[in-house]
Amino acid sequence: MTATHSEVPATRRRLGAAPAADDLTAEERLSLDELRARQLERLRWTLRHAYTNVPAYRAKFDAAGVHPDDCRELADLAKFPTTTKQDLRENYPFGMFAVPEKDVRRIHASSGTTGKPTVVGYTEQDIETWSTVLARSIFAAGGRPGHKVHNAYGYGLFTGGLGAHYGAEKLGCTVIPASGGMTARQVQIIADFRPEIIMVTPTYMLTLLDEFERQGIDPRTTSLKVGIFGAEPWTEQMRCEIEERMDLDAVDIYGLSEVMGPGVAQECVETKDGLHVWEDHFYPEVVDPIDSHVLPDGETGELLFTSLTKHALPIIRYRTRDLTALRPGTARPAFRRMDKVTGRCDDMIILRGVNVFPTQIEEIVLDVDGLAPHFQLKLTRRDRMDHMTVLAEASAGTGAERRRAAALEVVSRVKDGVGVTVAVEILDPESLERSAGKLRRVIDERQTP
Ligand code: DLL
Repeated sequence: MTATHSEVPATRRRLGAAPAADDLTAEERLSLDELRARQLERLRWTLRHAYTNVPAYRAKFDAAGVHPDDCRELADLAKFPTTTKQDLRENYPFGMFAVPEKDVRRIHASSGTTGKPTVVGYTEQDIETWSTVLARSIFAAGGRPGHKVHNAYGYGLFTGGLGAHYGAEKLGCTVIPASGGMTARQVQIIADFRPEIIMVTPTYMLTLLDEFERQGIDPRTTSLKVGIFGAEPWTEQMRCEIEERMDLDAVDIYGLSEVMGPGVAQECVETKDGLHVWEDHFYPEVVDPIDSHVLPDGETGELLFTSLTKHALPIIRYRTRDLTALRPGTARPAFRRMDKVTGRCDDMIILRGVNVFPTQIEEIVLDVDGLAPHFQLKLTRRDRMDHMTVLAEASAGTGAERRRAAALEVVSRVKDGVGVTVAVEILDPESLERSAGKLRRVIDERQTP
C-alpha cells in the first residue's frame, strides 16, 4: 500500500569501498544472534520500566490483558498495544515520563498542525545514547573527527538542531550551530568557515543553493563534501538535483522526536541504499496500517518503533505514520535497512479516489526541463469534486513557450504515472515561499462539504 514510484535515475555514486571493519563500532559488528539477544533483554527491561513507572502504559497493557512477563521472545512484542501521538497528547505535558521530573535533563516538543505539542524528555543517559547514535550516523554518512559540521537544523524545541549538535561534538567534529534562517549569512559562513559537512532539511538545502548562485558563488566550489538531509520526505530525483549542483554526497537521516529525534536510522555513504536502523536502541516493526498486523520484512506498511534503552520516555510500538519496508543490512550488516520514507499514511492525498503522494509529484517536477525544484500542491473543492493544482516555478531564463510545454508535460506525466488529472500553473522564478526548515508542500483549501 504505497505509491508506485517511477523508475529512478541512478544517483551519482562517488563512493569509497565498503567500510573497513576498524571503522565500525562494536555494536555495528554484532552477529545477528548477539543483536537479537541484546534486543530481547533490552525490550523486556523497557516493557517493565514502562509498565512500572507510567500509569498510562500500565492501563493500556492491563486493558489488553498483557504483562511485561509475557514477552519471552521478540515476536511477543506484537501482543502489546501500540502507542499513538494521541496517547502523548492525552498525557500532556509530562504524563508519559517514566522518571521523576528532576531527573529529566532536557525537554523537546514537536508542534503538530493542530492541538497541543507532543512533549518528549531525556535523562542525562538518554542524551548520551542519542549523541552516540548520532555520532554513528554522521560517521556512516562520511563524517570524521576533525570535520567541521554546518548545522542548519533549527535549534529550539525541535530535536533537529540540538540532536545533530551533540552527535557531531561526540564524534569529535567542530560544530557551526547555524540553525535555520538568515540564508544570506549562512552562505557567507559556509564560504568562509569551509565546513566539510552540512546537516539541513533537503528543501532548505535548495534554498541555500539558490542563494549561493545569487551571491555569484559556484556551489560546486564550496568545501562541502557530505550533506546529511532529513526531517522531511525527499526523493532520489532530489538527491540527483542536489548532487549535480554541488560536489557532495547527499545522504538521508531519519528520526522522530517521540522515538528520540534525528539519528534513529541513517543511510550509509558507501551504498546509499536506504537507511540502517540503529536496532540496538530502536526496535522496528512494519504493520498493515489498517488492521495493524505485523508484516514480514520486504513488505511496505506503517513503521512502528519501540525504544530499547530510553529512560525518561520509553515508547512502545509507536505508530510513526511513516510508510516503509524493512530489508537486510548492507554496509552495516548487523542492522536492517528501511526504505527511504517517501510518504506518510496521513500525507496521502486521495484525489477523486486515487492515492497521490506529494513525492510522486516531486519526482516528475524535478525531471521536467525548464522547471526549478520548487513546487507546491494546492487542493480545492468545486462542485463536490476535489481538484489539485501543481504550482511549479520556472527556472530562471525559461521563456513562455518552454513554460507552456513544461506545464503540458507535467499534466501528462502525472496522468500517466499517477493516474489523476491535475492543473499546472507555472510561476515566475522565486515566487513560492522558501523553506527554512521543514517545508509545507500541500495547501489544502478544501472546505468540508
Ligand atoms: O524531524 C527529527 C529529525 C530532525 C530527523 C533532523 C532528521 C533530521 P519530528 O519533528 O518529530 O522529528 O518529525 C518526525 O518527520 O515521522 C517523518 O514523517 C518525517 N521525517 C523525519 N526524517 C525523515 C526522512 C524530526 N529522512 C517526522 N525522510 C517523521 C522522510 C522524515 N521523512
